[in-house]
Amino acid sequence: MNVVEVENLGFTYRRAEKPSLHDVSFSVRKGEMIGVIGPSGGGKSTLCLTLNGIIPNSIKGDFNGTILIRDPWTGEEFNTLETPVSKLSTIVGLVLQNPESQLFNMTVEEEVAFGPESLGIERNEVLRRVRWALKVTGLRGLEKEFPPNLSGGQQQRLAIAAVLAMRPSILVLDEPTSQLDPRGKREVLGLISLLNREHGITVILVEHHTGYLFRNADRILVVADGTIALEGKPEEIAEEVETLRRIGVKIPPSIEVSHELRKRGLVKGLSLTPEEFPPLKEHHSDLGSLP
Ligand SMILES: Nc1ncnc2c1ncn2[C@@H]1O[C@H](COP(=O)(O)OP(=O)(O)OP(=O)(O)O)[C@@H](O)[C@H]1O
Ligand SMILES: [Mg+2]
Repeated sequence: MNVVEVENLGFTYRRAEKPSLHDVSFSVRKGEMIGVIGPSGGGKSTLCLTLNGIIPNSIKGDFNGTILIRDPWTGEEFNTLETPVSKLSTIVGLVLQNPESQLFNMTVEEEVAFGPESLGIERNEVLRRVRWALKVTGLRGLEKEFPPNLSGGQQQRLAIAAVLAMRPSILVLDEPTSQLDPRGKREVLGLISLLNREHGITVILVEHHTGYLFRNADRILVVADGTIALEGKPEEIAEEVETLRRIGVKIPPSIEVSHELRKRGLVKGLSLTPEEFPPLKEHHSDLGSLP
C-alpha cells in the first residue's frame, strides 16, 4: 500500500524568483524508510513541509501537482490541498532540525500532552499516549523536567515524543541530528530505527549522515535543484558516485573506499555497512506499544 503519492509536485515561495520544487513525483510504501539526501538549497526542507500540508496551507505560494496521504490504519485518503494541517498532522508527524524550536512547554510531560490535548482528546487517552511516547523514546523518569535542561539528544527525542503522541503513521524528519553530538546522534538514529522496525512507522528522513541511510534506508531520494535527481535502493545509489560527487552529495567514506578497491580488482561488490552507528540497545529493553 502506498501511504504517500506525490505527483508532478511544484512549489514556488511567494516573491521567490524560481521554483523551490518542480516535477517531483515519487511514492512511499507503508513501513518503508526513505532517506532524502542532497546539496544545501536543493529543496529537501521544502519537500518535508509539503508532506504534512504546511505548504501550501500555512506557507503560501504557487503550488501545483498533487500529494495524497493514505492512513494505513484506517485506509482513508487525503489530498493535502483539501485537508487542514491539524488533520494531516495526525497522520504525518513532522520533526524539524532544531529541537528547541518545537519545545515550548514547562515540563516534558506537558510538552508531549500538548498535541493530543489540542485535538480535544479525552484526558485518560492523553495520559496513555504520553506514557507510551515517553517509554518508546526512552524518556521515562524525566516527566517533570524543564525541557531546556535536557541534553540535545534528549530534547530531540522529546520533540519526536511530542509528535508521536499524535499517533502518526508516517514520520518525516528534517535533519533531526544535525545539531547533536555523536551520542545524541546515536540516540536519535537508534530511536528512528526502532520506530520504523518495531512500530511499523513509515519514515522519511533527511539526513546528512549518509552512512546511516546507506545502511538502513529501503530507498534513497537524491533531491537537487528542486527535483529528484536520483532514486533507488542504497546499493543502486552507491553505484552513482560520479553523479553524487557532481551534485555535491557527501557519500560515506566506506563506499568511496569500496569503489576504489573494486576498481583495483581487489573486491567484487560494494560495502554499504560501515558499523559507525550501531542501534542503541537501551531503547530496546523495555518496549511497550499502544494497543
Ligand atoms: N521561506 C522561503 N522563501 C523563499 N525561498 C525559500 C524559502 N525557504 C527556502 N527557500 C528557497 O528554496 C530553495 C530550497 O530550499 P530548502 O530549504 O528546501 O533546501 P534544503 O535542501 O532543505 O537545504 P539545506 O540542506 O540547506 O537545509 C532554496 O533556494 C531556498 O533559498
Ligand atoms: Mg533543509
